[in-house]
Amino acid sequence: MTRIRFISNDDSVMEVQGAPGDRLLDLAQAYGQPLEGTCEGQMACSTCHVIVAPEDFARLPKASEDEEDMLDLAAGATRTSRLACQIWLDTAIDVLTVRIPGEARNMQGR
Ligand code: FES
Repeated sequence: MTRIRFISNDDSVMEVQGAPGDRLLDLAQAYGQPLEGTCEGQMACSTCHVIVAPEDFARLPKASEDEEDMLDLAAGATRTSRLACQIWLDTAIDVLTVRIPGEARNMQGR
C-alpha cells in the first residue's frame, strides 16, 4: 500500500491509501481533489498537474518526453511537477506527497 498525502492550495492535508496499479489521477478524483484530468490521460491537457514533494519525486519513474512537453505548458509548474495521469503506484512507492496547484487563473500574476 502507498500512503498518499494530498496538500491543497490552502495547505490542508488529506491522507489516503492507494494500492499498486492505482493511478494517481483516479485516486485524487475518487477523494474529491480538484484535478480535472480533462483529457483522461492522453497527455493533452495538463489539468492533472501536481507538484510532487522533492524527496518523493526522485523515487518515481521518470517522466516521458511527451509528459515533459505538456508540463512545460502547465501553469505554475516546478522542477518536481508531474502529470497525475502518468503516475501509477507500485510496491516500491510507500509514501507519496503531492501538492495540488491552485486553478490556473489563481496561479497567474504570482
Ligand atoms: Fe490530461 Fe493528464 S489528464 S494530461
